[in-house]
Amino acid sequence: MGTECPVTVLVSGRGSNLRALVDAQTHFRVSAVISNHSGAPALQFAREHGIYVECVERKDFANLAEFKAAVLGAVVKTKPNLVALAGFMMVLQPEFVDEFEGRLLNVHPSLLPDFAGLDTHQRVIEAKAEEHGCSVHFVDRGVDTGQLIAQAKVSVSEADTTQTLEARVLELEHRIYPWTVNAICKNAISLTGTKLVYSTSARAEAKQNNFIIFD
Ligand code: GRF
Repeated sequence: MGTECPVTVLVSGRGSNLRALVDAQTHFRVSAVISNHSGAPALQFAREHGIYVECVERKDFANLAEFKAAVLGAVVKTKPNLVALAGFMMVLQPEFVDEFEGRLLNVHPSLLPDFAGLDTHQRVIEAKAEEHGCSVHFVDRGVDTGQLIAQAKVSVSEADTTQTLEARVLELEHRIYPWTVNAICKNAISLTGTKLVYSTSARAEAKQNNFIIFD
């Protein structure tokens, strides 16, 4: 996709993954940040870094369909090569997914397909799972069901709490998400039809970082 690969990041809250992306942008540029919450700390961070920001809130629209259409319109307007969801708390409508098919990414705090949805750390503890982690995937019309690109694992111990697990998994998210976005933007990971192709260097880097890849 080239070194000037503009990426629009969608956020709703804290924005630690946004920060990680901004800090590690070598083959891409976070050119816009869009939020559905005006109070999101992520927006403040983006403004401080001179990134184009737009906020589209539900309260300003008569119905959900109009609101979602406005979010899509705001993202389209930024002309991104890639769209990265980073803690964006809104289920995307099919039109959104279709518009950015193969260019829409998400980071999710579990080893998908296990623990799709919310409260993953709590559910991992309740299920007494031995492994946990995070996944970067393309977004399709389902919730957390799109093609997996990379995962990173942590082991779960009996002493773990939701807080300790969240902290360890988040640390991995902050490494694996920028790595994946950089790799896609330099064509080291590409989607050919439904098949993911990883370059030799992407494979080597994944191995070095203990990331799991899916080819
Ligand atoms: C992260 O755990 C991400 O995986 C999930 O929502 C959280 C967002 O955190 N989708 P942050 O706003 O990036 O700090």
